[in-house]
Amino acid sequence: MVKKNRIIAKSIALILMVIIMSTKFTNNVFAQSNDSVRDKVEKLMSQLTLDEKISMLHGNSKFTNAGVERLGIPEWKMSDGPNGVREEIKRDSWDVAGWDNDFSTYLPRGTALAATWNINLAHEYGTVLGREARARGKDIILGPGINVHRSPLCGRNFEYMSEDPYLISKMVVPYIQGVQEQDVAACVKHYAFNNQEYERFKVNVEIDERTIREIYLPGFKAAVQEGNALTVMSAYNKFRGKWCSENTYLLTDILKNEWGFNGAVISDWDGVHSTKDAALAGLDIEMGTNKDNYDDYYFADALKDVVENGEVDIEVINDKVRRILTSMFKSKVFDENRSKGEFISERNFATAKKVAEEAVVLLKNENKTLPLKLENIKTLAVIGENAITKHAQGGGSCGVKTKYEITPLEGLQNKLGDKVNLKFAQGNKSTSTFDWAKGVIDTSEVNANYKIELKDEAVDLAKNADCVIMFVGLNHHQDLESADRVDMNLPYGQDKLIKEVLEANKNTIVFLIGGSPIDISKWVDIAPAIVQGWYAGSEAGNVFAEILFGDINPSGKLPFTFPKKLEDSPDYKLGDFPGNGLEVEYKEGVFVGYRYFDSYNVEPQFAFGHGLSYTTFKYKDVKLSGSILTAGNNIEVVVSIENNGAIAGSEVVQLYIEDVASSVKRPKKELKGFEKIFLEVGETKEVKFQVDESMLSFYDVESKKFKAELGKFIIHIGSASDDIRLTKEFELVKEN
Ligand code: BGC
Repeated sequence: MVKKNRIIAKSIALILMVIIMSTKFTNNVFAQSNDSVRDKVEKLMSQLTLDEKISMLHGNSKFTNAGVERLGIPEWKMSDGPNGVREEIKRDSWDVAGWDNDFSTYLPRGTALAATWNINLAHEYGTVLGREARARGKDIILGPGINVHRSPLCGRNFEYMSEDPYLISKMVVPYIQGVQEQDVAACVKHYAFNNQEYERFKVNVEIDERTIREIYLPGFKAAVQEGNALTVMSAYNKFRGKWCSENTYLLTDILKNEWGFNGAVISDWDGVHSTKDAALAGLDIEMGTNKDNYDDYYFADALKDVVENGEVDIEVINDKVRRILTSMFKSKVFDENRSKGEFISERNFATAKKVAEEAVVLLKNENKTLPLKLENIKTLAVIGENAITKHAQGGGSCGVKTKYEITPLEGLQNKLGDKVNLKFAQGNKSTSTFDWAKGVIDTSEVNANYKIELKDEAVDLAKNADCVIMFVGLNHHQDLESADRVDMNLPYGQDKLIKEVLEANKNTIVFLIGGSPIDISKWVDIAPAIVQGWYAGSEAGNVFAEILFGDINPSGKLPFTFPKKLEDSPDYKLGDFPGNGLEVEYKEGVFVGYRYFDSYNVEPQFAFGHGLSYTTFKYKDVKLSGSILTAGNNIEVVVSIENNGAIAGSEVVQLYIEDVASSVKRPKKELKGFEKIFLEVGETKEVKFQVDESMLSFYDVESKKFKAELGKFIIHIGSASDDIRLTKEFELVKEN
């Protein structure tokens, strides 16, 4: 009898297993079938229970939401971040998992990528990120981060791209395409107006409608409409009194209805404040809450309750699940032929190097101080803590555990070997500049208390060298998620160090590391050469050495304005960065970055778009296909550029448009086109741009549309926003 029962039990178990397997199999079969994504999603939808649907709408670990095993839906695995796949942490805590195979390529940070002004490189960058994410088993990369640089002080500027919406839009689209072509969903963040770190969990942001449309939203719009980003991350802050994670205007009206986004909105980690409001406003997934029990998330049991008591219609839930499944299908989560990826491969590091090579910006180069000539140098002094600092792991959620990172000193050693007598003195030593009590990065206090014992040794070394290279600037104690700087000063007594070294040896190159502008007024005039090197990724040191010695001709251009002093920046002058912690109003409106400096005649230290080369380019001629533009038509702009210097090099040709007379106050000129071209010595190339009516328009608050007013416009073609070489006028007229 017992035996018989056992046999029956076994048979039942077997039958159940077959049923489960066949359900899974069936699902796999339809996942592979020729049905459209919509049909596949609907088939799954028809089988999901309410509990299963709800389980997909919130985290079930730090970086996954639940899957539904019986239907073959896996967990959706997310990972930071924008510059490389983040180190693994434990499933349910922020503690490091301690794996030895969770390395990634450290790609140059966002500002460095933007400084290349090279859209093909942005695509390659995304490809590497996608490949590495796949190899690490991830489905979503929590990047790119594209918040506009509103103030030089935002702690996270280094991770983002630029002050200019056009440059951001052009770079973000290929980046996302690169990621998603590798069958990984991108998650563009932080939507929207997270332009400061100070009190990011509390602050309410007030911005007028024209400004959001012209400055802060275009990058996100391009990411969604042109890049087809499969997910978007809502920001922590409030906008017009409502948290971004429950902001109907942002999530439903603009993102989903106006822009047609049909992917999923994921909250920033622990950035949700309600169940019903967030659900109805358009948030799809809640992530990162610090609650011990995942069922206590706003989008867990509480969401089921509001559905069951009728406060939230089941169709609201269905819409969220559909969005998730659609994005999963589009990134081939169910597909056997999904990309397997590849991580820390030679070609991935090679891309990191290429990006760094084109990112470095030559800010100043008096009397051709650079490139350095080896034959003139017997003793080379390298000074500054940044010569030996590795930055990959810093900065917050974008930190990367990389296989290797070449420091500037190592790069020089690799390049020079024993060809010169290379000596190093640290000169300065960092301590944290993050003031927990105030929630800000306060370099002034660190400077006041700074012990300068390392300085004298460095100055002595400089005196006896033929040439000095100083690696100075910021590190991730200042360029940091969760706090903003209070000033633009260099920390750790570096101003004094730089000045004294420059006085001791005129042949000193100042090489800046960092991702945001700093005040260099105390020594800028006596420094013959200044370079901006950024946080330039795994190959940074090798690239810096190659740039310094002329193996690579610099071609990076600033993606933001370098003010002379903080008081010159628009957020300071006209706005109120960072507000009082609870409220911030972007009073400067559309006058962000160069739009302000240009229009208010404030001379920057280095302008937006600035970047020198070891060669020179002649802007020879500009021709327009006509001087009259009508709606629906284009004017073709053709510019000839010649490399009239002594070595090959690349130039970023920039096109700005000025509206001569307008019914609203507009910036003096705005970037509307650019192209990076490579020219051999003596070579001339033509660059073509198409200008249409949309490029002349501003956001008209009355009609709630972009509109161009009839009249004269000027095309400015140049090498930087303050270095315009050619101009041409045309007129927008009414069609007959
Ligand atoms: C950051 C996000 C990040 C998330 C997960 C948040 O604090 O703002 O950018 O993706 O953490 O680490």
